[in-house]
Amino acid sequence: MSGVYRDLLGIELPIIQAPMAGSQGSELAIAVANAGGLGSLPCAMLGPEALRAELGAMRARTDRPFNVNFFCHSEPSVDARREAAWRELLSPYYREYGIEATATVAAPSRAPFSTAAADILEPFRPAVVSFHFGLPARGLLERVRSWGSKILSSATTVDEARWLEAQGVDAIIAQGLEAGGHRGLFLTEDLTSQIGTFALVPQIVRSVRVPVVAAGGIADTAGVAAALSLGASAVQIGTAYLLCPEAKTSAVHRAALKSESARHTALTNLFSGRPARGIVNRLMRELGPMNAAAPAFPTAAAALAPLRATAESTGHGDFSPLWCGQNATGGREIPAALLTRALAANLRPVDCGP
Ligand SMILES: Cc1cc2nc3c(=O)[nH]c(=O)nc-3n(C[C@H](O)[C@H](O)[C@H](O)COP(=O)(O)O)c2cc1C
Repeated sequence: MSGVYRDLLGIELPIIQAPMAGSQGSELAIAVANAGGLGSLPCAMLGPEALRAELGAMRARTDRPFNVNFFCHSEPSVDARREAAWRELLSPYYREYGIEATATVAAPSRAPFSTAAADILEPFRPAVVSFHFGLPARGLLERVRSWGSKILSSATTVDEARWLEAQGVDAIIAQGLEAGGHRGLFLTEDLTSQIGTFALVPQIVRSVRVPVVAAGGIADTAGVAAALSLGASAVQIGTAYLLCPEAKTSAVHRAALKSESARHTALTNLFSGRPARGIVNRLMRELGPMNAAAPAFPTAAAALAPLRATAESTGHGDFSPLWCGQNATGGREIPAALLTRALAANLRPVDCGP
């Protein structure tokens, strides 16, 4: 597996900047790509025009390989009763903020990879395409493969890793329980199956032949070296990049990441309908963090949008998803190129292969 990141991904450093939908766009990805890491463009929350524009920006501002990331969940059918029950649970907050119970606020949704997205992506032929929540339907996957893009996807269990290998992925992202943002789980919803990075990475490395990328709680060069010594070929790091000036992290999110509260995170389904790790805030304390009333992914977000917008306008993150991994100590307000190089500094050649 040595030097896999060079041969497979075409990058100089074994560092993948994690795609972070809603918290970054092309600017962060370009900075990381130009510094020798793999910059990632998260596309789950981009409409067709924004997707085209962001891909165009990537092509214009870097000639290095980059990763384009999509979700592949199945879209839920409309469940009016569940939505009404969810709004009823939120109604004390609506009253507190003087918001109409039926209020809607335009909020970007999360869409799965589709033929329409593939049509936009095709002329760009990105070096890498990564998926979260499994893989798209076979035909779509084959289309991406036919352009020569390398295909990566997240596994949160050994079973998921084996399944992904059987579908022919080029590398597997082992997402440990420490990771910020959504759990990539797709074969099970049982959260007791989810294990930490130190336990997950070697077990997946032993179970598959394809290269493994370690993700979750890696925040500094010692963490990178540890992951590589467990058999990972590269690392994928999210939380540490959230304070970079090139990230689009909101003001309330930045403030929370820099505060003591970043030490306390939990898995919550309140903000989207799927379990994701974020800093514990008022909504999580009072309704959850896990609550069966939250509608199916990604629809839980809609009813929260007006509360979130109102609270954020006065500097409060009480109703915002403050995605964050269990190790926020690596977050530094430095340019992403500097952070990327710092994360890969002092790696001994033996860590990275020949
Ligand atoms: C703010 C945020 C947003 C995320 N959004 C995505 C996403 O859009 N797609 C994806 O594949 N992973 C996403 N993730 C998960 C990352 O890919 C990765 O598993 C995680 O950041 C690694 O753990 P760390 O945050 O401790 O470094 C997100 C993580 C964070 C922190």
